[in-house]
Amino acid sequence: MPHLDLPFDPTCCLIDGVWSKPVAQETIELINPSDGQILCHIAKGGAADIDAAVLSSQTAFYGKWGHTPAADRGRALSKLGRLILENVEFLATLEALDVGKPLEQARADAVALARYMEFYGGASDKVHGETIPYQDGYTVYTLREAHGVTGHIIPWNYPMQIIGRSVGAALAMGNACVLKPAEEACLTALAFANLAIEAGLPKGALNVVPGLGPEAGAALCGHPGIHHMSFTGSVATGRRIQATAAQNVIPVTLELGGKSPQLVFEDADIDAALPFLVNAGIQNAGQTCSASSRILVHKSRYKEVTDRMAQRYSTLIVRPAKEDGDIGPLISVRQKAIVEGFLEKGSDLTLCAKGSLHPDAPKGGCYVLPHLFADVSADHALAQEEIFGPVQVLIPFETEAEVIAIANGTDYGLVASIWTKDGARQMRLAKKLRSGQIFVNNYGAGGGVELPFGGRGLSGHGREKGFEALYGFSSLKTVASYHG
Ligand code: NAI
Ligand code: MG
Repeated sequence: MPHLDLPFDPTCCLIDGVWSKPVAQETIELINPSDGQILCHIAKGGAADIDAAVLSSQTAFYGKWGHTPAADRGRALSKLGRLILENVEFLATLEALDVGKPLEQARADAVALARYMEFYGGASDKVHGETIPYQDGYTVYTLREAHGVTGHIIPWNYPMQIIGRSVGAALAMGNACVLKPAEEACLTALAFANLAIEAGLPKGALNVVPGLGPEAGAALCGHPGIHHMSFTGSVATGRRIQATAAQNVIPVTLELGGKSPQLVFEDADIDAALPFLVNAGIQNAGQTCSASSRILVHKSRYKEVTDRMAQRYSTLIVRPAKEDGDIGPLISVRQKAIVEGFLEKGSDLTLCAKGSLHPDAPKGGCYVLPHLFADVSADHALAQEEIFGPVQVLIPFETEAEVIAIANGTDYGLVASIWTKDGARQMRLAKKLRSGQIFVNNYGAGGGVELPFGGRGLSGHGREKGFEALYGFSSLKTVASYHG
């Protein structure tokens, strides 16, 4: 086990401002997916720890944190953003070790986390209610109030970005948060919490309880003391979360991934598109909710796009995270098995190119080669189901109506992009595609924290990021005052 120099004890939960061992004193092994070795142990929190965390957050919400003026909340978040920026290298290194993502991508996530704190720090005092003209003798206005205690269950693929967009927005609105990070990758969540203490966030504003999903996660989601639940992860767990939250009739935000397409029309600038076509599929080894796993190409450009993507794929080298290649390992042996299962389901397809594994990559690492399949029919499992690995399918189309049907023809609807110079088509398609975000002649817009994000269909509901998240993390109250 390597020596990790951490400024906190990862076998502890952060409860009420104190790092404390879970009640059951148990731990979970954290694996470095680049070599399969144990990285360290983290706390295995359970229901009793969640109880303590929720109680602490309730106390904070009805006490100091709940009475902190919006401008001061914002100042604390802005300070946290500065501390994160000062610690980018440290955070990126932890994330690379824990998640297996190439250092450069981990660095971008750390900078994004800082950006979320800057954005939400600046926004916390800018969310206003309205006055509403009403009958004679009345003054009516609305107040935007925090929900109270918010629960946050996050996955392992982008811990920092997802903490930023959910915990950042919730804190900005004055909620007190209980965060349950993923059992597969948890170190940056703990490091974030440690920096939050340094930034002066009062105790209980943020509690963190690492643990298993069915234990700590289920206990948090079903806790009668929480008022809002934010979840990012699988559809199966999302369904469970929503059903559990229904028992306490609390709102949920669900972000459950997708099968996001890029539509390449006959007039597309292929030179400009190419890096996006490939990178959106292989970033974080394809373990991205908004990964673009379907490339839909007009027949007139199909061969050109296929050849050029195949050429790029044949140069992709999979390496350990610290070597900062195009692609690192997948998160776990389990995720590798899921993706290999899909590759098996694709054994009837035309494999047009794949990447290679660096010969020095450790044997125990969770490596899967990137695969590009051509001429895939739109109803094939690889064109319908979320793979969550470095696998993309190419599908040819002839008409605009046909490509709209293909693009909208999955159960998901998270992100879509349109590559065309035709302005009318850009606007038409932006309306017709069933998706939470649409990109025109780009993909992802650099991940902008300002841009509301969320899904339709099985991709989930509710919006995080941007100002929209602040509305989701608050409750609207209407006050009608009769004064004659
Ligand atoms: P998961 O949805 O089971 O795990 C995500 C989070 O939910 C983790 O923190 C986990 O501890 C928690 N969780 C699990 N079961 C729970 C329960 N019963 N109650 C409360 N919380 C619970 O996802 P998993 O197993 O890590 O990945 C499986 C698949 O899910 C992937 O192959 C991928 O397709 C999808 N996924 C999508 C993500 C996205 O960004 N939308 C992120 C992670 C996974
Ligand atoms: Mg790990």
